[in-house]
Amino acid sequence: MSNCGSMGIERKRVRVGQKFRPDNPKHVQRVRERIEEDHGPGFELDGFEPDEGLAIFKRESNTVVTSHAGNDSKIIKLPQGTKQSDGKSRAVSLADTYPGYQMTTFEPHRRRAIISKLSEDVIRARDAISTALRAEPWDIQVSKRDDEGYSFTLPAGYRPSKHDDALHEVATVIIGEPGWYVETDTHRRTGALVPAELATFEAVYKTPMPKKMDAFDHTKKDHFQVPMGIALPDPGQSHQVQYLNLEAHQMAQLGGTAGSGKTVSINAYIAYLLARRAEMVIIDTPSKSADFMWCQEFLIPGGWGCDSIRHAAATAEMVRQEGARRAKELKRQGAVNWKDLPADKGFKPMVVVIDELTALYAMDSVPKIPKDAPPKQVELKERAEATNFAKSLLKDAIKNIAAEFRFVGICLLASTQVASATTGIDPALRTNLGHKLLMGSKTTEANRRLVFSRPEAVPTIPHHVREDPKASRGVGAIEPEGDTPAVFKSYFRTTDEYRDWLISLGVPQRSEEAVTPDASWVAEVFGEDDIDDGGEDLGPAPEAPKHRPGPAGSKAVEQWDALALDG
Ligand SMILES: Nc1ncnc2c1ncn2[C@@H]1O[C@H](COP(=O)(O)OP(=O)(O)O)[C@@H](O)[C@H]1O
Ligand SMILES: [Mg+2]
Repeated sequence: MSNCGSMGIERKRVRVGQKFRPDNPKHVQRVRERIEEDHGPGFELDGFEPDEGLAIFKRESNTVVTSHAGNDSKIIKLPQGTKQSDGKSRAVSLADTYPGYQMTTFEPHRRRAIISKLSEDVIRARDAISTALRAEPWDIQVSKRDDEGYSFTLPAGYRPSKHDDALHEVATVIIGEPGWYVETDTHRRTGALVPAELATFEAVYKTPMPKKMDAFDHTKKDHFQVPMGIALPDPGQSHQVQYLNLEAHQMAQLGGTAGSGKTVSINAYIAYLLARRAEMVIIDTPSKSADFMWCQEFLIPGGWGCDSIRHAAATAEMVRQEGARRAKELKRQGAVNWKDLPADKGFKPMVVVIDELTALYAMDSVPKIPKDAPPKQVELKERAEATNFAKSLLKDAIKNIAAEFRFVGICLLASTQVASATTGIDPALRTNLGHKLLMGSKTTEANRRLVFSRPEAVPTIPHHVREDPKASRGVGAIEPEGDTPAVFKSYFRTTDEYRDWLISLGVPQRSEEAVTPDASWVAEVFGEDDIDDGGEDLGPAPEAPKHRPGPAGSKAVEQWDALALDG
């Protein structure tokens, strides 16, 4: 016997005598067994030289290769006739024959397999990954990474849409832990299970308070970005600021149950915009308005629409008229959007914050009373009617502002409680509020459907955040107009901190009287000659809505007619 190796092929020339018959399987088998005793399996008859009595047997070289998957590997010659479907049985028998090795490549068409030494955890990972990819274990190569994760090759049949969910499960449950993530590169056909900590939130993120803030300039894109808090990053990414982009849309809806963090979020929004010298207006119910006392002094004259429903309506009407004035001015300058105005001819943003819109909008029930009812009952009825009239004016103005004055630099942030069935906002207003935010870590699917346009596209608060009392405070989800939805935690500062900051920036302050709607303005909005407007709902009942509310041709009559048509 002698060796004549060539290019990975091993040949054995064996003296068999001239009686050897190459077409007799018994002859061939006997010689092969002799060769196997010395050289191991895998030899096939390759030729016979009758004159010399020499048979030539060959097999592909089984020299150890170390490059394969970074492990000690051997190439094994497969018996003739091995089919693709024999993979499983080959894998089992090779693992049996070569303890500590697994079949890592199976190429029956080349009549070869590769076996490699794999550690227990690589075998486990390989099984899980191949199952997720619906591939055979030997069709992917898996190796351990320095960070205790795994790298693997992707089979030709890999499709992100088809396999990524299963791979995610392998990364987070089967092989790794929550926080681990999958990376794939479809061009290089590689993937990895990468270990990472679950992203979560700190107990508090303090609102940034730069020492210097330039006044709002509509030609500067970054001025439109209101920092609302910190977004929950994707696995392996770092925490980033969550902005509310007022360039993409000026109107926003903020929902949440009581105590979910609406007011805290609103405060961050107000503080940033005041720091940029925006014209600020607040509309709220008297009972909740204490929340915003801290910024009352920074509002524009008449901007405190909180002391009564009449004041709320009067302030809203003031904004509407300012919107109409700006629209005219814009037209005069030949522009359609305030953002197109030259830097020196721009408008200041006018920002309207409405907290607890649900309460402001809920109509009082009007008692049914007989014609000759006692004065006390008549008074009750008239008061309810007057309240509802004011609410109608308010609703109408808000609806109008949201629908028509986006392009004149009026921004609106409306917060609502979300009850089980409704937000209290009618659909027409809802569609005009482009950005959607829902505060709370335990929001129900029903509430998400009430607030978001495409709830299925908005991430839910992850379990580990929800169940962590520190991390979950002030958490919400945002569906921003023109941007990717995210889970975030709103910034927090005490209202004293905000106030001190604004004063240090030189934001102008006004007296309470200056920011409260003028009695004569309120009377004008309600079409009244002049009555004492005590700033309370309990003051003398204004004219009931069954009368036209003012002198013919007045603004109030116009509104009344519009409402009457609506209703
Ligand atoms: N982003 C936050 N960071 C830390 N604590 C918060 C945050 N948001 C809310 N909280 C806590 O939750 C309480 C209730 O929040 P609040 O904004 O008043 O709720 P809502 O207006 O929805 O009723 C706050 O007083 C504060 O203690
Ligand atoms: Mg609140």
